[in-house]
Amino acid sequence: MGNTQTAPAPAPAAAGSAPSGELKPTGSLDIKDSRTDKTYSVQIVQGGVEGDTATRAMDLRQIKTAPDEFGLMTYDPAFMNTASCKSAITFIDGDKGILRYRGYPIEQLAEKATFLEVAWLLRHGELPAQGEYDQWVRDITFHTYVHENIKTFLQGFRYDAHPMSMLCSTVAALSSFYPEAKNIHDPEQRNISIIRLLAKLPTLAAFCYRHIKGLPFIYPDNDLSYVENFLSMVARMSEPKYEANPVFVKALEILFILHADHEQNCSTNAVRAVGSSQVDPFSAIAAGVAALYGPLHGGANEQVLRMINEIGHPKNVPAFIDEVKGGKGGRLMGFGHRVYKSYDPRAKIVKALADEVFKQVGMDKDLEIALKLEDAALHDDYFVSRKLYPNVDFYTGLIYRSMAFPTDFFTVLFAVARTAGWLAQWEELLLDKEQKIARPRQIYVGYGDRPYQSKLAQRFPTLKKDALRK
Ligand code: CMC
Repeated sequence: MGNTQTAPAPAPAAAGSAPSGELKPTGSLDIKDSRTDKTYSVQIVQGGVEGDTATRAMDLRQIKTAPDEFGLMTYDPAFMNTASCKSAITFIDGDKGILRYRGYPIEQLAEKATFLEVAWLLRHGELPAQGEYDQWVRDITFHTYVHENIKTFLQGFRYDAHPMSMLCSTVAALSSFYPEAKNIHDPEQRNISIIRLLAKLPTLAAFCYRHIKGLPFIYPDNDLSYVENFLSMVARMSEPKYEANPVFVKALEILFILHADHEQNCSTNAVRAVGSSQVDPFSAIAAGVAALYGPLHGGANEQVLRMINEIGHPKNVPAFIDEVKGGKGGRLMGFGHRVYKSYDPRAKIVKALADEVFKQVGMDKDLEIALKLEDAALHDDYFVSRKLYPNVDFYTGLIYRSMAFPTDFFTVLFAVARTAGWLAQWEELLLDKEQKIARPRQIYVGYGDRPYQSKLAQRFPTLKKDALRK
């Protein structure tokens, strides 16, 4: 596969946003250790114009009671208050409900940009000029085909395999097709790997769909746009040229933009952690797919639909809400967010999009249930006091289902889009001189030193002859 090219150097900072990459000292913090009565001074640093203030966790290591002691560390399960990196890619203000990619508000990008333009923006920091965009689209289109052995690989899965398991394994398998991708410090290799991943994800996703449906694989149609080609590989039957519903094309383009990045969420953190071992990007992105699969992350859109099916009728909504509040009905899927403590700005756009799509396909009982659930939760003190609002996944499932995607497949659509963000974050990590292999500390709470005393009768017991027959 040819067509490699050198990754252009990151563009200069946009006017007004000054992404310097520096952590500037803005003050200091005095900490008095009551064990020793000593006072320590740690620097307070701030990143960028709207960056958060922080102290460097390593500064706390100077706080100790004896010179040979390890020093203080912070304990932060689930990274509730720990910045693992500096990043200039995505800005979120969870209290104000703001999301921006490289400074551009998500609302404007969703309305005016294309997904591939956003993928370029995330990676390079600036919107592409026409020539850059044309070359980018050409490169990605050129690499949409996958090796024929990938088809054989996919055919090894059972008919009822979950498409996220298939996608995760297939993305990991790509690493074996491109061994040169492990040269991650070579900008040309990074560039071609990024292009290959963005190009092939829709093909792999569509092939997973065709496999579970028992349908023949449809090869990419390189005359079509990114989203149209994806829909063609998913839905084309005997017609020589697939013509997608333009409302669906627009909806998917917008949903891909909304899902493209979301700073240090669980899957991006997985990509960065795995990528920090300097493994190839196919393996690192496979880790992101695995993390996204979970029901508390990308898997939530699938769970929203399952929850709505379980509720069954709008009249059952109040009883279901009571069950959630009483801790019996599980969580209200599609509600709540670690970062957004007011409305998720993506959910607003998705709700408007859902209205457009439902105008085309008609409103159904499930949408009525969703609207009633949202209304009930937004007026209930349990949800209001905990700042639980609809997140992006609340309505996406309904849109995907109205486009006839199976419930199992929703998270795959999320993965295709998020690949753009994962790759931008992965490259940012590699170019960040401060980054090293991710290796958190732990607070050991287990046994102290104790001597080994076996509880076995024999050191290497032999298997009894009839043991396997039982
Ligand atoms: N339904 C009912 N109660 C909830 C919910 C919910 N969806 N989410 C949080 N709570 C309650 C939780 O029980 C806790 O109550 P209490 O203080 O009485 O113990 C309180 O709110 C705080 O919850 P938390 O678990 O400490 O919050 P978190 O920041 O760790 O969790 C979350 C964030 C997204 C995992 C969680 O809100 C959740 O499980 N939501 C449902 C799953 C979901 O929709 N996930 C998609 C997230 S958006 C897309 C993505 O990023 O992938």
